[in-house]
Formats: sequence, structure tokens, C-alpha cells
Amino acid sequence: MHNRWWRDAVIYQVYPRSFADSDGDGMGDLPGITGRLPRLKDLGIDAVWLSPFYPSPQNDAGYDVADYRAVDPLFGDLGDADKLIAEAHNLGLKVIVDLVPNHTSSAHEWFRQALAAAPGSPERDRYIFREGRGPDGALPPNSWTSMFGGSAWERVPDGQWYLHLFDVSQPDLDWGNREVREEFLAILRFWLDRGVDGFRVDVAHGLVKEETLAEYDYPTAVLGGLEPVGPPPPMWDQDGVHEIYREWRELLDTYPGGRILVAEAWVQPAERLARYVRPDEMHQAFNFLYLEAPWRADALRDTINTTLQANDEVGATTTWVLSNHDVVRHASRLGLPPGHGRLHGIGPEDPQPDTALGLRRARAATLQMLALPGSAYLYQGEELGLPEHTTMPHEHRQDPARARSGHTVVGRDGCRVPIPWEADAPSYGFGPSDASWLPQPAIWAEYALDRQQGVPGSTWELYRAALAARKEHALGSGSIAWQLPGDSGFSAPSGGPGAGDDGADVLAFRNGDVLVLTNFGAAPVSLPEGATVLLTSEPLDADGRVPTDVTVWASI
Ligand code: NOJ
Repeated sequence: MHNRWWRDAVIYQVYPRSFADSDGDGMGDLPGITGRLPRLKDLGIDAVWLSPFYPSPQNDAGYDVADYRAVDPLFGDLGDADKLIAEAHNLGLKVIVDLVPNHTSSAHEWFRQALAAAPGSPERDRYIFREGRGPDGALPPNSWTSMFGGSAWERVPDGQWYLHLFDVSQPDLDWGNREVREEFLAILRFWLDRGVDGFRVDVAHGLVKEETLAEYDYPTAVLGGLEPVGPPPPMWDQDGVHEIYREWRELLDTYPGGRILVAEAWVQPAERLARYVRPDEMHQAFNFLYLEAPWRADALRDTINTTLQANDEVGATTTWVLSNHDVVRHASRLGLPPGHGRLHGIGPEDPQPDTALGLRRARAATLQMLALPGSAYLYQGEELGLPEHTTMPHEHRQDPARARSGHTVVGRDGCRVPIPWEADAPSYGFGPSDASWLPQPAIWAEYALDRQQGVPGSTWELYRAALAARKEHALGSGSIAWQLPGDSGFSAPSGGPGAGDDGADVLAFRNGDVLVLTNFGAAPVSLPEGATVLLTSEPLDADGRVPTDVTVWASI
């Protein structure tokens, strides 16, 4: 693979807790992942991204890191990480690891030292400690709230407060402190030297806070998302973050083979996000505007246009994504009525998604995404068509956002359930025992890999075929030209309930020699004369037309 491999790569997110358990303790692990890399190779992906596997109290499923240079015994040891990297490379797969620089765990050595040291000490200066407000400092330094709910400040016994934008056990680091910057450069080197091909940077938009920690009284949705609220928040997307990434990029560029940085930055508009992927900064930034766009032709066309254009302007490719470990799986999200606003969890008491509709749309959405130029991220299980576990009893749920939000947010556990490999095995083949750290619903059997391999029309086979065709037609490195009814060779919806004659419910584009068409409307749509169907997310109708909620790739 060339140095710019990432520009059109399909990258598969492995959530180590829930991918494969080699020892039967109910928790996925690194040897489990290594053993199943051949399956991923078979799927046709180019790289894996692993969510955190570092030592951690696991208060936020490992995004609370206590030691950045080791492996949590839950998942194995450093030798297992080396083996995983070596085996992936043998198979021609790249490996991206997660880097969590905004905060450490409160169990990290630095935070222990900070608590043991006095106010004003160099140990405290690695974090954001402040005096409280009010006569005896009993009020938090400002009104900022945690992304998981409640105040973003916690008081320590000597009366000072520390900032935590996430859980109370995730104190924010002070990136104004040179020692913090040096430490993370050393951590990057540690993993680069072990051979990793890149880093997914957690909360990349949060490292630098506005200097005065200015008040911010606007409501911030628990767990965030991209809804616009008030003026630019003083804790997110400060201009100062960019110089950090320039320094990291310089370091990465000294290593051979194309090592990359991908930003997890919930930033809008698209032009602000594109600043993270300027030529001397990161390589990729997840396009969450696309993930959040409603299932409508006009909304998706606008989002695709705006993001491609913003990235073009800085010479970057676009990075598409529909699911990850923080949002309701797209096979369920797209089965909810419009405007449901449930991005971060669905519980048994909530209106339940329409499973069949959700899967139908998810397959259409994925085929659309995989035909867009740039890179695409898949989240483990989506290649099986897995839905969210929406009926998980609350006592099993572990997401800290649930408790901290006073149970107003269901939490993200429903998309993190261990995935099914074998329909008739204990824990559906997740591991050798029936243990599973989150309960797997009985419906997992029908989604198991062994029920789908070699089965025409299964979601697994659809993903495999799409990944192969995407490569064959070089869709990832192509460019798109919108096709509108009236363009030669393309016909408008052919009547029926809900059909407009303006094609408003159709999204169609050409990428090289492939026509990609999604029909969002009720009426079936005809393909242009002479088009040869390559792939469809569901069968065409008896007249060869594209039914509702179906995407087609056709060569023309
Ligand atoms: C984003 C991660 O994806 C999420 O899982 C985590 O809770 C927060 N960042 C805090 O690290």
C-alpha cells in the first residue's frame, strides 16, 4: 500500500470489549481480535481502528486512561498488542489505535500526584485546577457542564476544583503546559515505534480551552452532537488546538509508510471541521454532519456537497461514517420516525424503531456511503446488519452518561453489545463461554456471521460485494457528478403514490463509470437506458425499477 493509503481506505472500528473473547471471561480481548483478523480481511477492509485497550478503571469503557503505554490485563498485554499489529500487517491491514489526550483517568499517576501536591504546584498545573467562587470558594469556578451531565467541576479536599468535561474520573489536562505536550509526543513515539499506522484522536476539538474559562450559560446537550446552541462554546474548537496537531504531524511525517491522525471532532460548520485536515495537520476528520443528516435526498445532497467542498478547499479528502460506539446503530436510527432526536441510546420505554425499515435503509445508506469519494469507517457489527439493543434492561447498562444525566439519557450501551459470530454457540460465538459483559439479545442468532456467509442477499455478502466493487471501480479515489432528472439517460420517478415529477426524492450521482442512485420516495424509479446493475441494497421490482429506500450501483 502506498503512503497515501488512507485517502480512500475503508477502516473498520473494532470495539475491543465486544469483538471477540478468547478466554471466556465475557470481555473481548486482543488475542480474540488477532484470531479473527482473517475474517476482516475476507470482508475486504483496509485497516482497523481499535478503541482504547489501555489500563483503565473502565469508568468510561477505557476512555479513562491510567497508563498510555500499556495494555489493560482485561485485554491482554503489550506482547498481545505487538502480535496483533504484526498479524494485521501480515494480512495487509493497517492498524490505528485510539489516543485520548483531552483527559486522563483520575487513576493516572499524574492525577494522583496532583491530588497529593499543593495548590499552585507543578503537579497541579498539568490539569485545570482553580479556586471556587463565592465567599468560601464553595461554588464551582464557572457554570460549565459535563458532557455526561452535571457540573464540569469537582472539589478536592483542600478546597480547589478541577475541570472534567466528561466523567468526574476524567480530569482535563492543561494543554497550555509544555510538559503535557512533551508527554503526548513521547506517547505517540511509543506506539509509532511499535508499528501502528495511525491514531484516532479522541475529543480532538476540546484540548484547548478559552484562556479565561469564560462563562457559558447556553444549554449543552448531554453527550453533545452537532445541534447549534448559542455562540461558539469556550471549551470546544479553540484556534489553539491546531498548533498541537501541526506538531504531531511533523513527528508522524518522520516515520515511513504514511502514519495518520483522524480527528473525532464534533465541530460545525463544515469549514470549521476542514481546518483540522489542512495539509500540515490531521489526515482525516469524521464527517458527523453526514452521520446526523436526516434520511432525505435534499438533506443528504446538501451535506455531501458542503462537506466535499469544504474539504476540497483545504486539499483534503472526506471521511464518511454512519455508526460508531457513541451513537445508535444506523440500522436502528433509520428505523425511527423523523425528528426522533435519539442519537445516544434507546431504552425499553422509548418508541421502538421499525427493525425491517431500519435495516432496509441502513443497507441503502451504506451503499451510498461506500460509493462516495474519500475514506469510510465501518463500526463492528454493521456488516451483519446489527440493530441497537434497545430493550436492554437498565440494570445492565454501564455508560456513565446514564447516571450523570439523572437517567435522562439512556446511554450508549445498546450499540456496544458483543457481536454474534455463530448462531448456535454460547455467547453466539463471541467467546468460548456464555459470558458477555453486556447481555446479548436472543435475536442475535439470526444476525450471526455463520448464518450470513455465502448467503446471497445477506448483509455480510452485501458489504463484501460493495467493498470489492468499490475497489474495482476506484470509487474511493473518484469524484462525483450529480445526476438530475432531465439529464440525458436518466429518467424521473415513474408515477405512483408520493411521486413528484421533479425527482426530489431521488439522490443520484456518477462516480467514474458507476451511477449511484438512492430512491427515498414512495414511487419506484427507472434506471437509465443501457445501465447495467452492479449491486443493489435490495432487489429491484419486477419491472427492473428501484423501489423505495434502495440504493443501486449501475455501470453506464
Ligand atoms: C469520545 C469517545 O468516543 C466516547 O466514547 C468517550 O466517552 C468520550 N470521547 C470521552 O473520552
